Amino acid sequence: MEKYVIKGGKKLSGEVVISGAKNAVAAILPAAILSDEPCVIENIPNISDVTIILQIMSEMGANVRMLNKTTVEIDPRTLRNIPVPYEKAKLMRASSYFLGTLLGRFHEAHVSMPGGCDLGDRPIDQHLKCFAALGAAYTIDGGMVNLTADRLVGNQIFFDKNSVGATINGIMAAVKADGLTIIENAAKEPHVVDLANFLNSMGADILGAGTDVVKIRGVKYLRGTNYSVIPDQIEAGTFMAVAAATRSDILIKNVIPKHLEPITQKLVKIGVKVEQFDDAVRVIGGDNYVGTTVKTQPHPGFPTDMQPQMAAVLTCAKGASMVTESIFDNRFRYVDELRRMGANISVEGRVAVIEGVDSLKGAPVKATDLRAGAALIVAALGAEGVSEIYDIYHVERGYENMEEKLRLLGADIEKVDEPDPVASEKKARKAI
Ligand code: EPU
Repeated sequence: MEKYVIKGGKKLSGEVVISGAKNAVAAILPAAILSDEPCVIENIPNISDVTIILQIMSEMGANVRMLNKTTVEIDPRTLRNIPVPYEKAKLMRASSYFLGTLLGRFHEAHVSMPGGCDLGDRPIDQHLKCFAALGAAYTIDGGMVNLTADRLVGNQIFFDKNSVGATINGIMAAVKADGLTIIENAAKEPHVVDLANFLNSMGADILGAGTDVVKIRGVKYLRGTNYSVIPDQIEAGTFMAVAAATRSDILIKNVIPKHLEPITQKLVKIGVKVEQFDDAVRVIGGDNYVGTTVKTQPHPGFPTDMQPQMAAVLTCAKGASMVTESIFDNRFRYVDELRRMGANISVEGRVAVIEGVDSLKGAPVKATDLRAGAALIVAALGAEGVSEIYDIYHVERGYENMEEKLRLLGADIEKVDEPDPVASEKKARKAI
């Protein structure tokens, strides 16, 4: 069982280069199944979610070849439409994208219900509503979602809930359907736009991605492409939070500053300095921060995927802060862990009230999900003393070489492999 051991309280400095966006690549790799020719995809991050998606595609018969560390060639022509099993699908939310892409290509898909971070209720009713509107019948049987359609025909779809996943699945299912599909109340996140740009580079006809209304005119053929994934907005935001919490001066390179705007604005409001360049931001932490209010919203609002890391920064801001989570039911599971480090936080439903303390103290803590793990890293780096962060496999799902990147900035962080105390105890008991 691997854990991070972090000795906090050190000022960091230097540059960090941001990797390709997890939530963009999670859509773009499965979308390659829709292509009628091989595709080359660049700037893919080396994270476990990517490994799993590529494994699924290989096992289904696609020819997947890493050309270098960040570039993959996918030839989907040999891919067979076999079910995506529970063992793989449960590991990530993005497995749901195999529904849209397999339906789009084969008019049939069988995928186990998707897993991913436990953030509360995560239904797929909007995905199913969209597939049904395009002409697919669905059943859910033994945990498998089964979709079949004689043909897919464009339609007008209004999402009752603004959903990244349903918007992406809708685009993928409609891209080769007959006629025009109009998706209203579509998600506007940068990764939705990146997926549409990827498909358009293959000859798809998608208009309006990044706005509330996306129009997709079905095409018969998608040619191969050479496409580079956008930088990860949330990895960049996490390093911005690291700079703030450690009161450091860090240059964060390979970013799209516009995508970071809601994070930048909040950090500036509490007293952090942020300078923007064409493809970089410099973040200079201050000595005193003031509390603020944060409310997560769909893009271009403050991203829910940055809520825990921002809360970690606010634990040491003067006065009270109020953090409202409006996307997920249960995204405060990290709060108990921050309390172990001395944070003063109370949670009532979807609102957390943080009373700033002078400093946090290192403690053993557990990552309960991906961004919770990121928040604990932010907190531990800013805290006095040593923290041990357990269950870091959550972090490795979405951050490439986190500890190496931090070490290059001067952080005192080690990844240590030690036997899982619970598993060892169980083994010992069995042996008796
Ligand atoms: N929702 C429904 N019905 C649906 C789909 C969604 O009610 O059919 C609800 C959800 O329960 C939630 C809200 O709509 O309350 C938004 O969910 P959305 O579908 O937008 O989220 P997602 O597609 O499951 C993606 C990211 C998440 C990110 C959210 C919101 C991927 C693989 N995951 O999830 O990323 O938090 O959008 O931006 O793209 C992360 O990276 O840490 C992460 C959790």
